[in-house]
Amino acid sequence: MKLFIVTLLASIAAIQASPLNASCTVTSYSGVAAALQSCSALVIKDLTVPAKTTLELNLKSGASLTFAGTIRWEYAQWQGPLIEIKGNKVTVNGAGATLDGQGAKWWDGKGDSGKIKPKFLRIKTTGGSVLKNIKLLNCPKQCVSINSASNTVLDHFTIDVSAGDSGSKGHNTDGFDVSSSTGITVQNSVVKNQDDCVAVNQGSNYIFQNLTCSGGHGLSLSVGQTSASGSANIVKNVTFSDCTVTNSDNGIHVKTHSDAGAGSVSDVTYKNIKLSGIRKYGISVQEDYEKGNSTGTPKANIPITKLTLSNVKGTMSGGMGVYILCASGGCSNWPWSGVSITSGKKSNYCTFTPSGFSC
Ligand SMILES: *[C@@H]1O[C@H](CO)[C@@H](O)[C@H](O)[C@H]1NC(C)=O
Ligand SMILES: *[C@@H]1O[C@H](CO)[C@@H](O)[C@H](O)[C@H]1NC(C)=O
Ligand SMILES: *[C@@H]1O[C@H](CO)[C@@H](O)[C@H](O)[C@H]1NC(C)=O
Ligand SMILES: *[C@@H]1O[C@H](CO)[C@@H](O)[C@H](O)[C@H]1NC(C)=O
Repeated sequence: MKLFIVTLLASIAAIQASPLNASCTVTSYSGVAAALQSCSALVIKDLTVPAKTTLELNLKSGASLTFAGTIRWEYAQWQGPLIEIKGNKVTVNGAGATLDGQGAKWWDGKGDSGKIKPKFLRIKTTGGSVLKNIKLLNCPKQCVSINSASNTVLDHFTIDVSAGDSGSKGHNTDGFDVSSSTGITVQNSVVKNQDDCVAVNQGSNYIFQNLTCSGGHGLSLSVGQTSASGSANIVKNVTFSDCTVTNSDNGIHVKTHSDAGAGSVSDVTYKNIKLSGIRKYGISVQEDYEKGNSTGTPKANIPITKLTLSNVKGTMSGGMGVYILCASGGCSNWPWSGVSITSGKKSNYCTFTPSGFSC
């Protein structure tokens, strides 16, 4: 009995001395659930996650999580996500570890169709959470989905799917998809992929700053495609600043879809954006998407109000510098300044002219 108490006191002292309970370093999938329950500072190291299993990290309020080594998932055709991080006021540090999606096992050049591929990382954090230094390698398809999150900062992410360029195998590998959230900042990050660097679908109060995007489809808004029940297709107060987009289909791409009915896009700003080697459109705003395709006939179901561009400069490697396809009454109050996209093969085309810009 005495020995037991001494041991107990010693271990309590050990916990108090160090915020990290040594056995809170988890190296096998079977240890994750218990550690999530008992640890407020958790390390996940060199883990292999079984097939068709989401590594669900539902962290205790205020907890911290650090990754170490390489985290991998066994192969299976399923929807994913491979990992989901949830929690209030949490801190997640990638700390140089690699989350390796091993996308090549799924890549068939068909993205959302063909083999069933898992989405990679879903983030549902709240309350001032911070996720930083996270490295995602070779996403099977969409990389990061921020969904039902609030007041969260993503800092120093590296998303590298450039291996999917070879043979055009990687497809629909969006960097950051953001919907149904508010108060999200994504900053100081690099995305090398084959689809949107950022795609905002829904939500408000988003900041994207100091992003370097290459190989993909640019800084996008895509609104009105999914009729999430009870929530309108509204995007409000989104700022992209100090971003670079190179060797991509588009630089800036704002598209609205007529599938889900009414909605709105307002108070969206792009400032200090540098483009180079853009293949299709430097800046494209189109209100003509239906069933995933551009129809050429714009609709005003999702009006775009106050789309501000300031100091957006760059060069094309083909295509058209500026394309604006607004429906009658679909666009209003767009202050643009310092917008210059050069060396497109086709002349600009605009059915609506922003103030401060001559098409
Ligand atoms: C440390 O955490 C593990 C769970 O991972 C738990 O079983 C163990 O009791 C904890 N150690 C101490 C000394 O509290
Ligand atoms: C911008 O992000 C890169 C990482 O992509 C980082 O190295 C650089 O320090 C950041 N710049 C600022 C001003 O924070
Ligand atoms: C816009 O979003 C930013 C970032 O979350 C926030 O700081 C700002 O207050 C918002 N502006 C308005 C008018 O809501
Ligand atoms: C979009 O149009 C292309 C041809 O332009 C067609 O091949 C494709 O099936 C269409 N996609 C959808 C979702 O209808």
